[in-house]
Amino acid sequence: MTGPVAADIAAGGLAADAPLPRHPRFVSLEGGEGAGKTTVLNALREALLHTGAEVVSTREPGGTPLAEQIRELLLHPGDEKPSAETELLLMFAARAQHVRGTILPALERGAWVISDRFTDSSYAYQGGGRGLDPAFIAELERRVVGLRPGLTLLLDLGVAQGRERTRGRDLVFGQTPDRIERERDDFFEQVRRAFLARARAEPERVRVVDASQPAQAVADDAVAILRLFMARSAAEQAS
Ligand code: TYD
Repeated sequence: MTGPVAADIAAGGLAADAPLPRHPRFVSLEGGEGAGKTTVLNALREALLHTGAEVVSTREPGGTPLAEQIRELLLHPGDEKPSAETELLLMFAARAQHVRGTILPALERGAWVISDRFTDSSYAYQGGGRGLDPAFIAELERRVVGLRPGLTLLLDLGVAQGRERTRGRDLVFGQTPDRIERERDDFFEQVRRAFLARARAEPERVRVVDASQPAQAVADDAVAILRLFMARSAAEQAS
């Protein structure tokens, strides 16, 4: 992605008919609860650091001080339940800040960015899970985000297995589930379906990893996919 595109985003969106640019140094990790994103993120980070690259690891919702405050509102809103629309707009408010404050500056200085979740999560959770119109989400994406990752790793796991893992983690670390983690299984089935639909629609960008494997195998698969992606990007640049 070149300078003018970043400037377009800062100015408030791309032209209605412009396809969203994918940035070749921007990687996102997606998946349901308990899919092992943290282990994979660390493995990707190590692999990239080995090449001598600067790596910025970040997360959504969050990734800047203000976006982290929005995250707190989203996950621990107190007694008042946010509507689905409020939830969607807060996710995008956090993302607008994250893109401009963290992601674009890092990409522009030549770093790699790995984000634990990005816009695909809004299509899956607020679109699939909450039933909001994907066309509305696409409009927000075009106007306030304006870019997609070059590579998205979708760590796919059955809902029951994911639940078992998060329950184990909560017991070990004494954590209590946040507002979204307390949703019912049918919500997470819809989320999973929506993620897999995104992978079918954009198979080149969204690569599915079988997250039911042991953590090390999941991380190894993810690193292998990243290496292939890097080799392909380098070949494209050379041609
Ligand atoms: P997090 O603690 O990062 O969850 P996980 O460990 O499962 O990644 O909390 C983020 C929660 O926010 C997670 O339940 C997914 C949800 N979410 C959305 O609903 N929409 C979004 O656009 C994003 C980025 C996250």
